[in-house]
Amino acid sequence: MEKKNLDWKNLGFAYIQTDKRYVSNYKDGKWDDGALIDDPNIVMNECAGVLQYAQTVFEGMKAYTTEDGHIVTFRPDLNASRMVDSAKRLEMPVFPEERFVDAVVQTVKANAAYVPPYGSGATLYIRPYMFGINPVIGVKPADEYQFRVFTTPVGPYFKGGVKPITICVSDFDRAAPHGTGHIKAGLNYAMSLHAIVTAHANGFDENMYLDSATRTKVEETGGANFLFVTKDNKIVTPHSTTILPSITRRSLMYVAEHYLGLEVEERDVYFDEVKDFAECGLCGTAAVISPVGKVVNHGEEICFPSGMEKMGPTIQKLYDTLTGIQMGHIEAPEGWLKVIE
Ligand code: PLP
Ligand code: COI
Repeated sequence: MEKKNLDWKNLGFAYIQTDKRYVSNYKDGKWDDGALIDDPNIVMNECAGVLQYAQTVFEGMKAYTTEDGHIVTFRPDLNASRMVDSAKRLEMPVFPEERFVDAVVQTVKANAAYVPPYGSGATLYIRPYMFGINPVIGVKPADEYQFRVFTTPVGPYFKGGVKPITICVSDFDRAAPHGTGHIKAGLNYAMSLHAIVTAHANGFDENMYLDSATRTKVEETGGANFLFVTKDNKIVTPHSTTILPSITRRSLMYVAEHYLGLEVEERDVYFDEVKDFAECGLCGTAAVISPVGKVVNHGEEICFPSGMEKMGPTIQKLYDTLTGIQMGHIEAPEGWLKVIE
């Protein structure tokens, strides 16, 4: 298969249309067989549930070309089960987990020419999503849904790749106690747009959200969880019921403990202790691990000893090990890589 002629090394995190997408429709209480189609556009009624009341959930994952030339995805079973949790919370029908994985495999295979080559630094981002599609005007769940998967080749999420970024403590809250912060619902991102535009206008790359109940604890950013490294080289990540349970974070905690022999802790992280950490990173499918050099809280700066030039040594080791597993030159734990072709 011949690869598309794209400038792989200079891709940003942006949408590029690829050839095929997967679609399955839910009607009369059941999902149809699903199929790959060519048309990237969706026609729906003006009163569709997703348009009026934001009934939509999604996932984000990537396909990689390994050193020996295979195309793989990373732990797609976990994305499938997280989408079940998201759908249930928004009163949507569940798309069966094994069908989710199969739809991802079919879509990646059909777009194999867009999977960036090994060593290019780029990957194929995969976006499974589903939404209420029939007309809904009273506030209630839709009766009909569409599940889709599209792909798009991407480069780094933050401009500058793996250069440390500067983030600010947001005055806005991302998620309420007992709300929807722990699921991947479009509504969580809609309400974060004003906060991210404000952060960018003030010269910051991202927001650090605090817990909305007490505003004393670190939660996450708009699109990634936090990892901190203590001065005695322990890995600490915030525990919270209102953050998205990141698959990357869970994988990194495993890598830290089992590959690097580090102590790991998932616990409340108070903003007051952030100044005492040696390193900080944002982790997620899109972000991979993006190092944070500085956190600004209303003019007060916390500068991590790792600085603004390069990743700190422990975040670097985590990054190298995780990407080494994903690219197939470090042995993966059982079941982490799904070989597509
Ligand atoms: N937190 C939020 C709010 C996200 O949108 C994402 C991205 O998916 C993550 C964390 C990271 O999750 P994962 O590692 O599963 O991609
Ligand atoms: C991902 O990492 O896959 C996400 O969905 C984050 C998004 C903000 C791009």
